[in-house]
Amino acid sequence: MTPHWDTLWTNVRLATMDPEIKLPFGTIERGALAIKGGCIAWVGPADDLPSVPATEVRDGGGGWLTPGLIDCHTHLVFAGNRCHEFELRQQGASYQQIAEQGGGIRATVEATRASSEEQLFQLAQPRLQAFLDEGVTSIEIKSGYGLEVDTELRMLQVARRLGREFPVTVHTSFLAAHALPPEFQGRADDYIGRVCGEMMDAVSAQELADSVDMFCEQIGFSLAQCERVIQSASRHGLPVRIHAEQLSNLRASHLAASHSALSVDHLEHLDESGVMALARAGTVATLLPGAFYFLRETRLPPIEQLRRHGVAMAVASDFNPGSSPQASLRLSMQMAANLFGLSAEEVLAGVTRHAARALGMASERGQLREGLLADLLLWQIDHPAELVWQFGVNRPHCIMKEGQDVSE
Ligand code: NIG
Ligand code: FE
Repeated sequence: MTPHWDTLWTNVRLATMDPEIKLPFGTIERGALAIKGGCIAWVGPADDLPSVPATEVRDGGGGWLTPGLIDCHTHLVFAGNRCHEFELRQQGASYQQIAEQGGGIRATVEATRASSEEQLFQLAQPRLQAFLDEGVTSIEIKSGYGLEVDTELRMLQVARRLGREFPVTVHTSFLAAHALPPEFQGRADDYIGRVCGEMMDAVSAQELADSVDMFCEQIGFSLAQCERVIQSASRHGLPVRIHAEQLSNLRASHLAASHSALSVDHLEHLDESGVMALARAGTVATLLPGAFYFLRETRLPPIEQLRRHGVAMAVASDFNPGSSPQASLRLSMQMAANLFGLSAEEVLAGVTRHAARALGMASERGQLREGLLADLLLWQIDHPAELVWQFGVNRPHCIMKEGQDVSE
């Protein structure tokens, strides 16, 4: 049978983000890209394009094609708001003090527990739409505001439903080890027993989680408690990720690395031995400049060491009602450059190739490469660095999800 393409993109420049193409951004000037069955069937210089008929030929007008953006860390499903806490922080209270006084994550837990699945879905939709409008084609969404079985399941069901009803791939993470619920006050080990037993069993039986997350911190859970969660996750065949070294260094990155975690996230207090452990394990370091910005942190993650040891750095929004109330991956990209000193190329790799790896989907998404799914964006810009330089302008001109045009 003669091959036949569904869509052929011509007159485009390609930021493939393929590390085998040894130019910044994996650039192919004067490129072409063909799609068949939702996958990238051919990509390369237009001069080498084989002569294969295509159902539809699209002229990119000299714009840039990039992989679809991937946000690998969000808490997008929640109810209530924490605006008053923002005001308390304006008056000098710290994030930790608010948490210790029963606010913070626990305040969102109260509001989320009181909300139905439909209410949570309605609240989540416009937030998700904000990400999609920017060119996000895959997103991670965590539970963690239920902290009891029914609400944790409800949050994950809402996340799954968002993935069914919107043109986006949703990766769900089970984050019951996020904060200690009030009914377990003083009994953190008992709560972790519940997380590892009844809750993990239910989530796994309903196949509601793609990975398991935890908050390893003085105001979260200890290293030993997180290790129990990891062991339970591996019994259920689920990969793990950890909120690690955000406010202090509990050596969660060593724990993550020793269990081949997909990703460790935040990392302002990461030290060089932790960096080396991540490098050896191939665990992704996910940087969350939104939380750094909103919490007015001054300690930077060890970017230079991560670079030197060759740790893959992802960039994500950490969108949540407390430490990062901003539903914008593009803003997070700008912050990663401006606050953390990442180059434009590192930032773009951080929201494509490396974010895909943080979600265990690197063999399917995150680059413009033959055989990968055709999640891609067309931008009318002169250079891909513009996507990092500014935000609020330059929306994608065309959004393709698995080969389908899903632009508004
Ligand atoms: O990634 N660190 C824990 N979790 C979130 C904050 C969640 C919240 O404050 O509601 C974070 O920053
Ligand atoms: Fe988070």
